[in-house]
Amino acid sequence: MKLLFLGDVMGRAGRAAVTARLPGLRAQWALDFVVVNAENATSGAGLSADHAKVLLAAGADCLTLGDHAFDQKDMLSFVETEPRILRPLNYAKAAPGKGVRVFTAAGGRKVLVAQVLGQVFMKRPFDDPFSALDAALRAHPLGGAVQAAIVDVHCEATSEKMGIGHWCDGRASLVVGTHTHVPTADAMILKGGTAYLSDAGMCGDYDSVIGMEKLEPMRRFVTGMARERFTPANGEATLSGVYVETDDATGRATAIRMVRIGGRLQESHPA
Ligand SMILES: [Fe+2]
Ligand SMILES: [Fe+2]
Repeated sequence: MKLLFLGDVMGRAGRAAVTARLPGLRAQWALDFVVVNAENATSGAGLSADHAKVLLAAGADCLTLGDHAFDQKDMLSFVETEPRILRPLNYAKAAPGKGVRVFTAAGGRKVLVAQVLGQVFMKRPFDDPFSALDAALRAHPLGGAVQAAIVDVHCEATSEKMGIGHWCDGRASLVVGTHTHVPTADAMILKGGTAYLSDAGMCGDYDSVIGMEKLEPMRRFVTGMARERFTPANGEATLSGVYVETDDATGRATAIRMVRIGGRLQESHPA
């Protein structure tokens, strides 16, 4: 299968990059399944129902959220009516929506998608992501119940993401990090056959501080005081993520390539 995962879509610039480029890439790369992290797609904070519809129409098969899952209040109800949106599996027990789901791709092939939140350096304490993922992956074995499994690890710390990557090695097709908005350069296939990248980066304007207009974050760092709200930077976004090819028989990865297109980052994409 040919899979594409795109990192945190940041505000209007990020949405514009996805809607402008994803339909073409879907055809050009013959993609079978596309996951987009959309936790910052609406004004940099959460995802509205309207913007979710726009990203799904552009070619996303599944949208994942994160710690900002419910910053837009209409997502509290919309996530219950739109099964293609996932919130973190280890979010509050009372939260609406689901954190794992099996999708059907072309040819009837099954694709599991799950998202977990990290516990290290996160503002709120969340349940253990390791045991949450263990249960989900045991229930949907690769090469058996599902032909591919994609895990979005929404964490601050690269160490925690790597730990989860190895924890899932051989049980997931792809473990990819989100949340930091900066892509890492460690795309690889782990020993057990799981494609891994510590962070997919954001689909956003990199002339910024993690997607926000840079002046106010810099001011807060320098002075320790807030003067204005953070607002998303709206220059041309880089589409940022990872492309993976998998073997349908085993669900394991056979190729991985970082994806960076447009905007300020050095370009990278499959051949
Ligand atoms: Fe986040
Ligand atoms: Fe984010």
